[in-house]
Amino acid sequence: MEAMKIQIVEDASLPKASRIKIRQAGESVATRVKVSGWIHRLRVQKGLVFIVLRDGSGFLQCVLSGDLANAYQTSTLTVESSVTVTGVVNKLPEGKSAAGGIELVADFYSIIALAPSGDDAFTNKVAEGADPSLLLDQRHLALRGESLSAVMKVRAALLRSVRRVYDETHITEVTPPCMVQTQVEGGSTLFGLQYYGEEAFLTQSSQLYLETCLPALGDVYCIQESFRAEKSHTRRHLSEYTHIEAELGFLDFQDFLSHIEMVLTKSIQYVLEDPVAGPLVKQLNPDFVPPQMPFKRMEYVDALEWLNEHEIPNEDGEKFKFGDDIAEAAERLMTDTIGVPILLMRFPLEIKSFYMKRCADDPRLTESVDVLMPTVGEITGGSMRIDDHEELMAGFKREGIDPATYYWYTDQRKYGSIPHGGYGLGTERILAWLCKRYTVRDCSLYPRFTGRCKP
Ligand code: 4AD
Repeated sequence: MEAMKIQIVEDASLPKASRIKIRQAGESVATRVKVSGWIHRLRVQKGLVFIVLRDGSGFLQCVLSGDLANAYQTSTLTVESSVTVTGVVNKLPEGKSAAGGIELVADFYSIIALAPSGDDAFTNKVAEGADPSLLLDQRHLALRGESLSAVMKVRAALLRSVRRVYDETHITEVTPPCMVQTQVEGGSTLFGLQYYGEEAFLTQSSQLYLETCLPALGDVYCIQESFRAEKSHTRRHLSEYTHIEAELGFLDFQDFLSHIEMVLTKSIQYVLEDPVAGPLVKQLNPDFVPPQMPFKRMEYVDALEWLNEHEIPNEDGEKFKFGDDIAEAAERLMTDTIGVPILLMRFPLEIKSFYMKRCADDPRLTESVDVLMPTVGEITGGSMRIDDHEELMAGFKREGIDPATYYWYTDQRKYGSIPHGGYGLGTERILAWLCKRYTVRDCSLYPRFTGRCKP
């Protein structure tokens, strides 16, 4: 009854509160501020109500006491309700654990919108330890959690850092189309679509378009969604992923490898230096070891030898032999055992794509590379490209691809062909490695994989 009577009113004699975002709270100690957000956590203890408020820019503990704690309105509060809290930012004594060592001592607050309680309560929707597929159905709510939102912030910083590295190296950003009529990485993973009565696909890679940009714009890159109709359920395959791709002209294989190392090393360095993302990586992956140049280089044939020596079998359960694909499990076991980034190079022609240039000293091999990182395995694939017209045509023939629809691509070899190479970085795979996530699904906003296209 008492609580019903208590009305929460703002004391007009207090100094005017300035509106801030939580990230600014540290600079607002001893001033009266107003912060809006969602109730991330709610706890009542000894007549005090503790709210951890979240606004996307951070978390802030707010304390309600006296009438504020006892008012009826306060008893209706639920997790994920949106509120505006007004009060003075207080620095906590050393050792108190609120985020940032500060809290907001509230003198007034208002409810913007209450979230449901009971069966529909937020905590019932995204219960910790719930079945992953249920959590994926509730992805829109699960994103509000600390880990997922932290990964998304690191993701934003990674894309920003990659763009910064390319900008510093004078590589121009382009935006190739996603609706295409050509394949890049094999017909079996193409997503088809009807395009005004013609057959078309969702792009698997923007590589071919990037190659055509070299004579027009010089070195180029893009950050674009790629689509793969992957049949297998694995922890590192998505049906749609954010593909960072670059294409560089007038360089040899060694220059190419050094460039990839540089882009990865610098991008990670910039993420770790970022004031928001750096601490989040530390929180998600305290033991993360930033890559150091030069990376360990390993040839495909030496990898086979390593795998055989360590009695890791191929997909048929036998010893590896030349021409075998090194499948995901074996690749990851090798990378985790070696424990450092590896540039795995010079794969056989027959297990790689039609456009890859052969090695001058061994025509069975290609100037190709996969970058392998501990815990996830391959995060990057790339190669030097065939620059001879006839050889490229032979590549199409070998793969059973009709070159007619590729005229715009093969024209590159006709009108001033040059030595060039490029690569693709899997954004979600880099994040899985950087943020120590078990699966790339945790690194995509709304992951798409076999059987999942919602929400
Ligand atoms: O090795 P991939 O297939 O290479 C290409 O697409 C080249 N055309 C790129 C280029 O040279 N421009 O893919 C490149 C990277 C992989 O190393 C991996 O990190 C990521 O893209 N990737 C995937 N990530 C998530 N889900 C999938 N299904 C992926 N397929 C490839």
